[in-house]
Amino acid sequence: MPSRTTCLRITTLAALCLLSTATAWSGVEDSVHDFRTELSINEVCVVCHTPHNAVDPAAAGLDYAPLWGHESTAGVYTLYSSASLDHTPGQPDGSTKLCLSCHDGSIAIDNYGGTTTGTVFVDDATFDGSPGSASGSALDFGTNLDNDHPVSFSYDAVATADPEILPSTTATPIGGTIASRLLVDGKVQCSSCHDVHDVDGNPSLLVVTNDGSALCLVCHDK
Ligand code: HEC
Ligand code: HEC
Ligand code: HEC
Ligand code: HEC
Repeated sequence: MPSRTTCLRITTLAALCLLSTATAWSGVEDSVHDFRTELSINEVCVVCHTPHNAVDPAAAGLDYAPLWGHESTAGVYTLYSSASLDHTPGQPDGSTKLCLSCHDGSIAIDNYGGTTTGTVFVDDATFDGSPGSASGSALDFGTNLDNDHPVSFSYDAVATADPEILPSTTATPIGGTIASRLLVDGKVQCSSCHDVHDVDGNPSLLVVTNDGSALCLVCHDK
């Protein structure tokens, strides 16, 4: 028979195991996109969304704005180009513009709820070195996207032209199809590879872990 202390220890271990399983499904709370500490506020969603008085998408230059409460970027970007592309890159649209409204470094993180005088930017030292997080400068894309994976283009037209791009009806390792799980309105966006809400707890907020380049192989038949 184990002593009472051993049992207690086993119970504590079991509880710790349960806890660590739970953190793998953390969601946006306590993720890199939870700015309660940096902005000294007590809400999580409010920096990006608001239940009332959301921004007018047309006025903000957005074509997708899920109850958006953050100021949006007016950036004009240099785009990736290459001789082997099967699509003509265009300016960022959809949810990508929401990401760039912090990640191009032009709009303060605390410019939400009508405030335009925020002072906390994505490349601030305050965002360096937090657990699992990239450093400030790597978070700030500026307006140069010419060394980044292309976004904001329709997937199916490329898949039709290029046999090494899998059909959007292909199943993914996280269930569903490329179209239902990775594309947004038929397009490749930042959200095709990243889950801003960190629901699955993968490194770099990836929708599919990139061990063995698994994320890349969801769409590329290489
Ligand atoms: C750092 C900004 C940010 C924070 C904080 C944030 N979101 Fe979002 N949310 C986004 C972006 C960007 C999108 C659109 C892109 C996407 O869906 O991937 C989005 C989309 C959504 C959508 C619509 C699409 C979907 O995924 O269902 C819902 C609902 C939503 N968020 C709820 C929430 C809630 C609830 C919270 C707080 C617990 C929250 N978000 C916190 C940025 C944020
Ligand atoms: C409200 C501003 C804001 C918006 C909107 C936003 N981000 Fe971020 N994001 C940040 C900041 C600030 C950090 C760094 C946080 C830290 O280091 O503590 C960050 C970190 C990240 C990271 C690094 C994660 C890591 O583990 O290193 C990724 C990836 C990311 N964001 C992707 C996105 C994508 C994709 C979108 C849109 C779907 C988005 N972000 C929208 C502000 C934002
Ligand atoms: C095709 C998939 C893909 C797309 C599309 C994509 N990313 Fe990433 N991103 C990744 C991967 C994979 C990483 C992990 C680090 C690496 O391998 O470079 C990453 C890393 C990051 C980081 C962490 C900093 C760094 O360089 O490691 C940020 C911030 C980020 N992405 C934001 C974005 C934003 C904003 C967009 C849209 C403009 C976007 N990503 C589009 C795959 C993608
Ligand atoms: C959501 C599906 C998807 C994912 C995930 C994805 N890609 Fe792509 N990728 C595409 C599509 C579609 C294109 C556009 C191809 C074209 O127009 O010819 C592309 C373009 C590219 C290009 C440029 C090709 C050229 O001709 O210049 C490279 C390289 C690339 N991806 C590598 C990657 C890598 C590496 C990863 C993983 C980190 C990745 N992709 C993840 C769909 C995806």
